[in-house]
Amino acid sequence: MSRAARVALAGLAAAVVALVIGMIWGGRAFPRIIPGLPDAGVVVRWGLPVSKLAMDVAGLATVGLLLMAALLLPNDKGVLGKPAAEYVRAASWSALAWAGAAFLSIVFTTADAWGRTVPQILNREYLIGQATDTTQGVALTLVVLFSVAIALFSRGAITAGAAAGLLAFALVTLLPPPLTGHLSSSPNHDLATSSLSLHLLSIALWVGGLAVLALHALRKQPQLEVAAARFSTMALVCYAGVGLSGVFSLVARLTAVSDLWTSQYGMLVVAKIVAFVLLGYVGWWHRQRTLADLQAGKPRAFTRLAGGEMLLMLATVGLAVALARTPPPQFTVPGDRAYDLLGFPMPPPITLGNVLSMWWFDLFFAAVAAALAGLYAAGVWRLWRRGDKWPVGRTVSWFIGVLVLVLATQSGLARYAKVLFDVHMIEHMMLSMIVPIFLVLGGPVTLALRALKPAARRGDRGPREWITTILHSRFSKVITHPAIATAIFVGSTYVLYFTPLFEKAMVEHLGHIVMTSHFLLSGCLFFWVIIGVDPGPNRLPYVGRLLMLFVTMPFHAFFGVALMMTGTVMAPGWYEQLGRTWGPSLVQTQIDGGAIAWGFGEIPTLLVLLAIAMQWYRDDERQARRADRKAARSGAGDPELDSYNAYLARLNRKDKVDKGE
Ligand code: HEM
Repeated sequence: MSRAARVALAGLAAAVVALVIGMIWGGRAFPRIIPGLPDAGVVVRWGLPVSKLAMDVAGLATVGLLLMAALLLPNDKGVLGKPAAEYVRAASWSALAWAGAAFLSIVFTTADAWGRTVPQILNREYLIGQATDTTQGVALTLVVLFSVAIALFSRGAITAGAAAGLLAFALVTLLPPPLTGHLSSSPNHDLATSSLSLHLLSIALWVGGLAVLALHALRKQPQLEVAAARFSTMALVCYAGVGLSGVFSLVARLTAVSDLWTSQYGMLVVAKIVAFVLLGYVGWWHRQRTLADLQAGKPRAFTRLAGGEMLLMLATVGLAVALARTPPPQFTVPGDRAYDLLGFPMPPPITLGNVLSMWWFDLFFAAVAAALAGLYAAGVWRLWRRGDKWPVGRTVSWFIGVLVLVLATQSGLARYAKVLFDVHMIEHMMLSMIVPIFLVLGGPVTLALRALKPAARRGDRGPREWITTILHSRFSKVITHPAIATAIFVGSTYVLYFTPLFEKAMVEHLGHIVMTSHFLLSGCLFFWVIIGVDPGPNRLPYVGRLLMLFVTMPFHAFFGVALMMTGTVMAPGWYEQLGRTWGPSLVQTQIDGGAIAWGFGEIPTLLVLLAIAMQWYRDDERQARRADRKAARSGAGDPELDSYNAYLARLNRKDKVDKGE
């Protein structure tokens, strides 16, 4: 057996041993069976965490293999090299293992939920019921379907673009279980689900990437130094992501710091924190020593340390799965339906003071805002350090956009938007109109293309080449077509509010994240086509942009009117369940919401008109200067100017003749 296979097996063994220790330490290995209460038995008690661990490890492996193929190993003009193509094929098998483990998780989760043994539940009724009616069952079924799709598509993928698409799909496939978990066992279930999702995403890239890199080194495969250098930058960001999301997961599950040493759950977390700090030290040592050795052609130290690091990481994953099976310390929350739905108590009657003071931390969009601000600032900083200029207006515009995003998703507005339809509509309008206008005027793509260095190797794809590839792709040509961008921007609003989708989006945390992200992205797409300052595949002439704006705005007004005329309560499964006792009636908030949708459109229209006018004027100026320069260079004068002067001369002569001079 090769050294790489031995180390991989040792990694799996470390994960299983850590899981067993964690289950014993967390008190889940030998629970007290209470006579008369249903017990699914030992097979299910261990089958569930083991299948969960297999699911996590297969998911991490699939992400790691695709990451290595698409982004870490150099490619030749987008075509994968031999090792990279091998990794994509290996991802096809790990994805299949992922699907199998997820299916087993459905079986064991069903047995655990019903307190039945596996043979007892393997009749159609339980399993189908679980897989289709419970959010957890649906989430696991999605993982089965998505990972089977990844397994199939990986078979034929030979380009870096296809591998990158599969990587994005694999990252999405990680999300349904954590995002649909309704952790009623948490003081703040939105924070609990968002933090766990970000935790798993960072872990998949970090642990998956490192594991494949370690095996690449152990198998003495080529271009290790390039892949390791690229991974090292990413690993630092992932390490910060794992730590931050881990701490937020903790905050969402514990009610006091003392829980860390007074509860079994807390002590398992402490063990993970110790592992996290150790892994940080290993990462620092790589940056201090082994990466430099590797670049100097001495891979030995890197290979040994990466192998050990992989074992520690997989052991921590095993511990984490045991942690997820361990009940967090008890806490008391208001038992009312509103708290259950909102994740926070029903707020007091709305006032401006409450909107400004009762901020509600939404980790997902806080992370989005931080990433937007951080990446843009890093780009401007890099240009500045290089002595290149970047228009201050664009930077200011970008940060106004980020600020409005924070206000819409973190201030009291976000809290009341969950309770009152009209406030929800204000949040919707800010996210789909105001934030995008300021973001697209910030010129993020132009900044990225100027700040990022070209790939070191000819024909290879670094971040800068990936941006140009995406910009010139068929996908962006289609999606940025004015008709498509308008249809998405306008049509999706009608589809969301006049179908059951809206209620689903309000009730489910995942639905709420998707709805809010859609507002943002569809708005950015629409306004990028109209007033974006970046290079794009479908740039309309200014008249065309005005037309696009004027064709769209009436639809928004009509949407507002349609809302005002709906006499029935929208999303009753949400608003009626909340049982709000203060303020206007549900239908009245809809009428107000309709009026807001109708009236709010004026603000962006004005902003866009201003932007188009300024861009048009500047463009004219630029063209005039270019024509002058050209005329000056060719000394041929300006044919346009010349013909105009000739026309004036003719007029002058005619004048003189008419006056008989
Ligand atoms: C600062 C350090 C860390 C903290 C505070 C932390 C905390 C947490 C918490 C609270 C959970 C949720 C468990 C539950 O569902 O109740 C979790 C899940 C998880 N953590 Fe961490 N973690 C940390 C570092 C790590 C590291 C270093 C790894 C792996 C290398 C890791 C792997 C995982 C995995 C895989 C899960 C999901 C388990 C599952 O649901 O299957 N964590 N973590």
